[in-house]
Amino acid sequence: MNITNDKVTEYINRYYNPLDNEMKCFREKSEEDCIPIILKETESFLKVMLNMKRPARILEIGTAVGYSAIFFARLLPEATILTMDRHPKLIPVACENFAAWEEGRRIEFRTGEAIETLDELIRDMESDPEAFEYFDFVFIDAGKSHYKEFFERAERLSKKDALFICDNILMKAYLVDDRAYDPGRRHRTSVKRMQEFIDYIYEREDLDATLMSDGDGLLMIRHND
Ligand SMILES: C[S@@+](CC[C@H](N)C(=O)[O-])C[C@H]1O[C@@H](n2cnc3c(N)ncnc32)[C@H](O)[C@@H]1O
Repeated sequence: MNITNDKVTEYINRYYNPLDNEMKCFREKSEEDCIPIILKETESFLKVMLNMKRPARILEIGTAVGYSAIFFARLLPEATILTMDRHPKLIPVACENFAAWEEGRRIEFRTGEAIETLDELIRDMESDPEAFEYFDFVFIDAGKSHYKEFFERAERLSKKDALFICDNILMKAYLVDDRAYDPGRRHRTSVKRMQEFIDYIYEREDLDATLMSDGDGLLMIRHND
């Protein structure tokens, strides 16, 4: 289910403004191919946040074909992006896209299970904490059952004032009432784990967080000290 009223979403997206014609075509092609890229309203929100924060180094968990990574790189010409994915069919498409777009030169793409990739990065960071380039913006957009593991690792790799944005947090409203919106309860485990993640974030007194019903639900997090 769309978590917001379809007419409201349609209204909001009348104001959607692609970065440029090439990004417009990239979105259209990805949508035609049924690739789960960021929704238009999520992109609009990210654009404002990124322009405010102006991060130098972005960590993304969940690349798909590289749409959001290229969007970040194109929006912020000084930024470098590290993104990761494990999908055997999408990895070659993402590689092709990163090679074809000029911005791909500022995007590092790591393949494999995200938890392992993040652990590799933690090992790099621990072996030379002075040289490690810490992240100041993190976008979590991958397996819904592992947001807590992703966040805990990403947090170790990030600066104190980093901003974290997690996508699909309301999971098509299953999180609100999985009996109503996911009657077969096929997503029961992911729903339970996502709920535990949200509770964990809100229980931490050193974090400020806000849950938003933008797109498929976003959770924005930062340290408050
Ligand atoms: C929603 S898509 C990412 C979309 C992308 N951020 C964009 O907007 O263009 C989620 C991606 O996460 C990847 N993914 C899911 N769980 C993962 C995991 N545990 N490790 C690595 N990649 C994962 C999937 O293969 C999929 O390509």
